[in-house]
Amino acid sequence: MLAESPLATLYLDLLEQTLTGAILQDTGVLPAFLSTTVVASVGYDRERRSKGRDWPTHAHTMIGLERLRSLRHLVAEVLENGTSGDLLEAGVWRGGASIYMRALLAAHGVNDRRVWVVDSFAGLPPPNEKDFPADRGDRLHEIGYLAVPLEEVKQNFQKYGMLDSQVEFVSGWFKDTLPTIPVSQLAILRLDGDMYESTTQCLRSLYGRVSIGGFVIIDDFGLPPCRQAVEDFREQNGIVDPLIDIDGMAVFWQRAGP
Ligand SMILES: C[S@@+](CC[C@H](N)C(=O)[O-])C[C@H]1O[C@@H](n2cnc3c(N)ncnc32)[C@H](O)[C@@H]1O
Repeated sequence: MLAESPLATLYLDLLEQTLTGAILQDTGVLPAFLSTTVVASVGYDRERRSKGRDWPTHAHTMIGLERLRSLRHLVAEVLENGTSGDLLEAGVWRGGASIYMRALLAAHGVNDRRVWVVDSFAGLPPPNEKDFPADRGDRLHEIGYLAVPLEEVKQNFQKYGMLDSQVEFVSGWFKDTLPTIPVSQLAILRLDGDMYESTTQCLRSLYGRVSIGGFVIIDDFGLPPCRQAVEDFREQNGIVDPLIDIDGMAVFWQRAGP
């Protein structure tokens, strides 16, 4: 793996603690769907935050420490191998994982790759049960907590000194924005849209642009609709590259061939 300078290691370690809220033991919430309450407060639990199993109250990513650490390794690997392309996250919430990708480029002195930050910035879509029956009954669109406006996400990038010309924001539903997104090659494709529809639209639009040797990261593989979308896409496209578990929820694979 590409070596980090001692300062870069300290910086990235600190960012992981800060972006997840572990450093201040930021409390979290979980989906509840009880009466009018769609999220319920839970305290801070190190194991839960480590594995990205709650949504922080204040901190900027919900993916947890283990997925951030995995992302760090995968970015280092594509940089070391010279795998061409930008880094893209579809489904960013408050922006924390994308901020971390931009910081990883900065920590390695990379200035010829961009980070694409793709979201509705208005939460998840209601389920389209006709076209994507696996999403039937999905209620994530009811959760205002998951809707973070673009301006707020930009401000979060600014707070870390990461809002610059190497970051591109793409706002709108994946089905509308991704087919024409002006990205030619991706070294890292990070999908975090939870639903079957969101996952499959990303794979259909973007998988063809992942470089050989690039990584596809599926944050929500532990959620049955997302998992089904991934399995259907891989089967339909003859993809047999092994799925590697990250933390019991997220997986990744390395694209080995066309
Ligand atoms: C679980 S959150 C992402 C968490 C984030 N990666 C982090 O680091 O904390 C899911 C995000 O996906 C977005 N999203 C889901 N489906 C979408 C779609 N079809 N089009 C646009 N945005 C979508 C939501 O707006 C939300 O911000």
